[in-house]
Amino acid sequence: MADFEFRPGDGPIGGEFLGVDAAAPMSDATFAEIEDLFYDRSVVVFRDQDLTPQQLVAFSARFGTLQPNVRAEIQNPDAPEITLISNITENGKAIGSRDAGRYWHSDLCYLGEPSKLTLLHALEVPERDGVAYGDTRFASAPAAYDALPDEMKARLGESKAANSYRYMWNRKAREFGVRPVLSDEELKQYPEDAIHPIVRTHPVTGRKCLYVCEGYTSRIDGMPEAESDALLQDLFAHAIKPEFVYRHNWRLGDLLVWDNCAVQHKATFDYPPELRRRMQRCAVEGAVPF
Ligand code: SIN
Repeated sequence: MADFEFRPGDGPIGGEFLGVDAAAPMSDATFAEIEDLFYDRSVVVFRDQDLTPQQLVAFSARFGTLQPNVRAEIQNPDAPEITLISNITENGKAIGSRDAGRYWHSDLCYLGEPSKLTLLHALEVPERDGVAYGDTRFASAPAAYDALPDEMKARLGESKAANSYRYMWNRKAREFGVRPVLSDEELKQYPEDAIHPIVRTHPVTGRKCLYVCEGYTSRIDGMPEAESDALLQDLFAHAIKPEFVYRHNWRLGDLLVWDNCAVQHKATFDYPPELRRRMQRCAVEGAVPF
């Protein structure tokens, strides 16, 4: 029997581990128990983690092979498997991504083999008067699929959609003004679109998951543009209905782990620039969605 406590949340996703030290040696049996609970709840938090970058890398690697981000400039220079997410500027330079999580998305869905899961560790949380800001919201993809009307499930069938890093880039650049607008030629340094099933099967739980997101899903393969745009807008709105959503209110030292097939997520930018937010993140490789 493992000596940690696990408290599942109220909704379809979310749960809290207490009494786990992610930096300490852990038996395979204990890790397997943790992994089972994680896949059952899709997003879980380990409280009170004091982790160096190397310790975060070591714990993340228990879940699989690490997958560095496509943007080298937001990697931790001493540990390239780690991406920094922060609103902090040092010596006139942003120390990490300042606009990650602006749109609902599933991590690295724009690659042929998107991330299986992501770990995000809170090093600094924006706080004022005892209130923590900068929550992250997660929406359950199996719950969203299950709730689709039967006619929609039949309509989606085996359809596929393009997930596009390049489509995201200039929308984000123009909307938030943090990254530069790039020419078509400059965008070619980033991955080509990945075509994935709109309804994918979870490789561990076998559940069907709605796999489209406003951040990256640009068009339904083989469908006229107007029809594709209208259907995608409907699916984006459906996927994030409040009954599918868990909202994580961060505490210093939280290590959150989420399943990128089973959830999509979005950060909340509700804090002023003088309140610092600094997170370190690792992603774990996944397989081709089916
Ligand atoms: C992300 O989208 O990975 C960032 C989430 C966050 O900063 O809350």
